[in-house]
Amino acid sequence: MTQTVTDAKAVKVPTLPDAQKVTEVTHWTDRLFSFRMTRPASMRFRSGEFVMIGLMGDPDPKTGKQKPLLRAYSIASPSWDDELEFYSIKVQDGPLTSRLQHIKVGDEIILRPKPVGTLVHDALLPGKRLWLFATGTGFAPFASLLRDPQTYEDYDEVIITHTCREVSELTYGATLIESLKTDELMDELIGAENLAKLRYYPTTTREQSPKMGRITDLMRDGTAFADLGVPQPTPETDRAMVCGNLAFNLEIKEMLEGYGLEEGANSDPKHYVVEKAFLD
Ligand code: A2P
Repeated sequence: MTQTVTDAKAVKVPTLPDAQKVTEVTHWTDRLFSFRMTRPASMRFRSGEFVMIGLMGDPDPKTGKQKPLLRAYSIASPSWDDELEFYSIKVQDGPLTSRLQHIKVGDEIILRPKPVGTLVHDALLPGKRLWLFATGTGFAPFASLLRDPQTYEDYDEVIITHTCREVSELTYGATLIESLKTDELMDELIGAENLAKLRYYPTTTREQSPKMGRITDLMRDGTAFADLGVPQPTPETDRAMVCGNLAFNLEIKEMLEGYGLEEGANSDPKHYVVEKAFLD
């Protein structure tokens, strides 16, 4: 069951340096939540990038001084959105997320408005099919890219795979993808023809669901390609963005290299790009 709290009231001037106000918090499971906050008017970013966000740390026992406690978070909202959205895990003894999970509408969050990252269209050469491979909270940068019209304009087909342990961990992504089809704003911004290019391939590894298994295994034995009716990726036609836990990133990177795809960067666009999902 999800719980969303929103605040439509005017936003007060923040008191912390670089602080933004929380406007919405949604708890998806006892381990996952997302939140939205105000966006500085001057802040520009490319869909798929990340920023440093956080809270003030506890006072130093000796000096009493407080320092910001910041972590890299992928921006889950698209570049055209007035607000910023983030999707996070809750780690009970994690220095930041143990506290961040308790934020409420109206609270302040520190944001360093200097976005960076490699999961951007600029780091990929033109291609026909875009693969977005996520595990767990690695879905976040794709929540941004999936709401960006460019993602569909640049490709004939967009396939997002999301592997989680349990079905409930797919809900944030599944809800977002559903909203792309039903939300009038999305229809207007992206267009039905573009949205028809999107394919969603969710899998779970530790709870029964229509598609069980790690995406890496499902690709290795050909199941994923057969299910989707597409051939194995090739450097001529396919591009990929990867965001998940470290072991997943390494494994899929090796597989993509095996298909002949090469890793790109902002300064040197190629066939695929990788970023590690934030873990506290
Ligand atoms: P598994 O349950 O088999 O470990 P986590 O919550 O640990 O970050 O994992 C998120 C999802 O990523 C889980 O479904 C997990 O599967 C899967 N996963 C972990 N490591 C890999 C890997 N090397 N390749 C593919 N999927 C992985």
